[in-house]
Amino acid sequence: MLHALCGAKHMIPLSEPEISGNEWKYIKECLDTGWVSSVGSYVDKFERMVANYVGAKHAVATVNGTSALHVSLVACGVQPDEEVIVPTLTFIAPVNVVKYCGAYPVFMDCDIETLCIDVYKVTDFIKKECIKRKDGFTYNKKSNRRIKAIIPVNIFGHPADMDNMLAISNEHNITIVEDATESLGSEYRGQKTGSFGEIGCFSFNGNKIITTGGGGMVVTDNKNLAYKIRHLSTQAKRNSIEYDHDEIGYNYRLPNLQAAMGVAQMERVDEFTAIKRKNALLYREFLSGVDKVEFVWERPWAKSNFWFYTIKVPKEYKESLIKYLLSRNIQVRPIWKLIHTLPMYRDFQGYAINKAVDAWESCINLPCAVSLREGEIKYIADNIKKYMSG
Ligand SMILES: Cc1ncc(COP(=O)(O)O)c(C=O)c1O
Repeated sequence: MLHALCGAKHMIPLSEPEISGNEWKYIKECLDTGWVSSVGSYVDKFERMVANYVGAKHAVATVNGTSALHVSLVACGVQPDEEVIVPTLTFIAPVNVVKYCGAYPVFMDCDIETLCIDVYKVTDFIKKECIKRKDGFTYNKKSNRRIKAIIPVNIFGHPADMDNMLAISNEHNITIVEDATESLGSEYRGQKTGSFGEIGCFSFNGNKIITTGGGGMVVTDNKNLAYKIRHLSTQAKRNSIEYDHDEIGYNYRLPNLQAAMGVAQMERVDEFTAIKRKNALLYREFLSGVDKVEFVWERPWAKSNFWFYTIKVPKEYKESLIKYLLSRNIQVRPIWKLIHTLPMYRDFQGYAINKAVDAWESCINLPCAVSLREGEIKYIADNIKKYMSG
């Protein structure tokens, strides 16, 4: 893909999958043997590979990251009339799954450096606006509802501040379900993301660092939770011969065909992470000294997979810079609209949200494919430089 080297005659994509390993070979084996559906050796292998990689005892493959998050909340026992703390700056899936359970999201601000949930505001909210009752659980004073879980999301691959998150959740008996869907390969203080909470969830959607077309994974050290998640995601079927189900389950299991692709992709996850980190350094180098442009970088305690590259510009430049870069055949996009501003979530509680508004007004995502070449990064940076100094 050399288009950018010669002036980007074709659009440089925001992201695209890298499929140049054993994908064809493993998928062909599934087709040849007929093991294409939701059981098969590749499902087992893929689960093992992800569990080992992340450092978790158990892994359960699911049809996508959203189902991984949903079944995790169900397995943790999230009930209607309970509340789950979520960031407002996120892709919408971790908020929607709260509603799938009939529960209520409480929206939190972001940390301006990582863009992840602001753990200090979470702590503030819990200490000032909630109360721990005699039953050992924490309740929102305003709504009187129990705070059941927190879903920290590792935004664009950057790890959230987990030490402080775990401290507050332990003190207040609140379950952590880590949305690590974007951060496979990232580390927080030397430990892989996804392995911090009671449960961690991954996505293998086409735009993620590794892909199965569509797919997800739940990881946990808790054997009972792993059993429950596997059970719920296979229609809560008690045995494989009789149609005997003991609760309302889901058809959430990942097909072997897609797991085969996952195994091939997992073989290269460290290589992909290294490339994305190298490209982050190139972006930063080419953009250094560019007036009014700040590159979102990892914190000292983090090793990010830099799933997406993000710049911050003064808000009056955001829309026009996006338009300009698109006209230069560079596919960029604004970050997600804040979830608490969307019509279906406007009436839910939010706590002191202001930095997320600044982030939304100033952030732009830049092309991030593993296949991105140095010349393309230079072309993108030169165009940003030209526009910002024009
Ligand atoms: C933060 C976040 N959570 C959840 C998901 C849902 O994953 P999926 O698209 O595989 O359902 C995604 C991405 O797609 C995501 O970016």
